[in-house]
Amino acid sequence: MAEQATPTTGREWHLAARPQGWPTPADFALVEAPVQQPGPGQILVRNAFLSVDPYMRGRMNDVKSYVPPFKLGEAMDGGAVGYVVASGAEGFEVGDAVLHGLGWREYATLDAARAVKVDAQLAPLSYYLGVLGMPGLTAYAGLLEVASFREGDTVFVSGAAGAVGSLVGQIARLKGAKRVIGSAGSAEKVAHLVDGYGFDAAFNYKDGPVLEQLAAAAPDGIDVYFDNVGGEHLEAAISVLTPHGRATLCGAIAQYNDEGAPVGPRNLALVIGKRLRLQGMLVGDHAALQPQFVAELAGWLKDGSLSYDETVVEGVENTADAFIGMLRGANTGKMVVKL
Ligand SMILES: NC(=O)c1ccc[n+]([C@@H]2O[C@H](COP(=O)([O-])OP(=O)(O)OC[C@H]3O[C@@H](n4cnc5c(N)ncnc54)[C@H](OP(=O)(O)O)[C@@H]3O)[C@@H](O)[C@H]2O)c1
Repeated sequence: MAEQATPTTGREWHLAARPQGWPTPADFALVEAPVQQPGPGQILVRNAFLSVDPYMRGRMNDVKSYVPPFKLGEAMDGGAVGYVVASGAEGFEVGDAVLHGLGWREYATLDAARAVKVDAQLAPLSYYLGVLGMPGLTAYAGLLEVASFREGDTVFVSGAAGAVGSLVGQIARLKGAKRVIGSAGSAEKVAHLVDGYGFDAAFNYKDGPVLEQLAAAAPDGIDVYFDNVGGEHLEAAISVLTPHGRATLCGAIAQYNDEGAPVGPRNLALVIGKRLRLQGMLVGDHAALQPQFVAELAGWLKDGSLSYDETVVEGVENTADAFIGMLRGANTGKMVVKL
């Protein structure tokens, strides 16, 4: 067992109240808590970057879902990368960089079996929370496997300036899409989709009806829709998809903070005549693609054909604000918190 001076307390975020509609800072509490020393088979990690992700909003509701809800008054969790500062586990040394699931806190004590060693020389550590991590695999598997993307497809992706969306559009371009179209929530993001990520067309969904803007950007229709947003976007895509078109239903962020009944799509009957395939996805089902996905994306990052952005918020004390900001569109690319 290797050890160095380790802290006795650290700060962690608790869910103080279940948000009603949009979360507010009052729903979260930053708490000083004892740091548990690692037992046999365990490691103590000093987190270097925390991930804030849209799915965490669902975990703040007390409902049964594919991940259990956060408990009130207890530390929240989520993706994090950091350095081992004490180890009781064979194969893990002080200084090793690891990816694990005990984010929203400065220090994490966990079974080493629940951590994955990552190479801080291959890529900046935070990339394992984004392009080389869960959002990257979501984009890769959701486009290539779930939507059965084929060379020559015209692809539309919503949430296109975010972590998943920015990668979906670029993977489609690199794999030979005929045309890539994206939507995002500001003029700056829309310009970046075209100038920074090489999309063929992009629009701001806040400028007018999505259907009108999408139809103008895709005069010949779309073959694939990658849905990060749901609602009006999904309805518009169903209208514009070509016969035998395919959609990956990845997220529905437009309704995560809704208190009323969700909007649409009201045109589902079109799915029949057009023989569309709308397929939901969960990234966890696609773990087998991990080695192939990392090799391909790391190669594109290295040769410069893939652009990757992060919005970095500094300080554990700003994690809740970073999370709320991400839901409101404050990020371009992946939102991470640097400790
Ligand atoms: N199924 C899975 O396994 C899986 C895995 C990972 C992620 N996801 C889903 O994928 C989606 C993207 O996740 P991410 O991590 O890449 O987040 P992200 O796109 O980096 O961040 C969220 C973005 O959503 C946009 N947004 C917020 N409210 C919106 C609205 N009403 N209409 C349209 N856009 C809105 C904002 O950008 P704007 O400024 O453009 O509005 C914001 O930046 C989410 O729906 C998430 O739940 C699913």
